[in-house]
Amino acid sequence: MSSCAIMDRAEQFVKEQLQNDSSGHDWWHIDRVRKMAVKIAKKEGANEFVCELASLLHDVADEKLNSSKEAGFNKVYGWLETNLVDVHTINEVLNIISTMSYNGGHNPPMNTLEGQIVQDADRLDAMGAIGIARTFAYAGWKGQFMYDPDNKPRDDLSEENYRDTKGTAINHFYEKLFKLKGLMNTEWGKKIASYRHQYMECYLLQFYKEWESADEELEDLNL
Ligand code: ADP
Ligand code: NI
Repeated sequence: MSSCAIMDRAEQFVKEQLQNDSSGHDWWHIDRVRKMAVKIAKKEGANEFVCELASLLHDVADEKLNSSKEAGFNKVYGWLETNLVDVHTINEVLNIISTMSYNGGHNPPMNTLEGQIVQDADRLDAMGAIGIARTFAYAGWKGQFMYDPDNKPRDDLSEENYRDTKGTAINHFYEKLFKLKGLMNTEWGKKIASYRHQYMECYLLQFYKEWESADEELEDLNL
């Protein structure tokens, strides 16, 4: 099968798997990650096929959307075995998918350039205007508050309490989003992350101004 045909099949498979998701892993998240990964792969001279395929499949195995990590992994493994002959590529893609999730910052660093690229692309989609939108969408999906001034961000998150339900959307900025800039792998990823980081800081400043009905904002508007 040609690499184009495999990519089309992967796209169909992922659309079927994620069609009902409203936790921030919908098809359009996958599509943004795939496009960004291919862009970075071109800049970095990496294997574009591996980057694109791993991007397409990266959230099918997510433990939030499966009964267990193993079940998610096996779903992707099964698909790859049926649709790809090249064992080397299968292993590369599986290696990327099994180690790339944020997981509260507890996973080991990516050990291939392609893995670093797909991870950067996924992390970039958790930042900036879209990252903010996804955070509030996720908090709503989980039944969490958007903000609670009495609920302070947690400094040290274990794997278990990273996924627990006690957080708020605003706390997620401190618990994850503001850490991403320092975790980027590629030079190109670092530059975009830095820009999106600044945007999120500005957003929070305005959020707090509105929350407090701050005089500053009224002064800005000459009111
Ligand atoms: P990804 O697919 O980018 O690896 P996750 O699976 O960790 O991301 O989460 C999906 C989206 O929801 C991301 O934008 C992430 O920042 C956001 N998110 C994850 N955990 C929380 C949380 N506890 N509160 C709010 N948003 C969250
Ligand atoms: Ni993702």
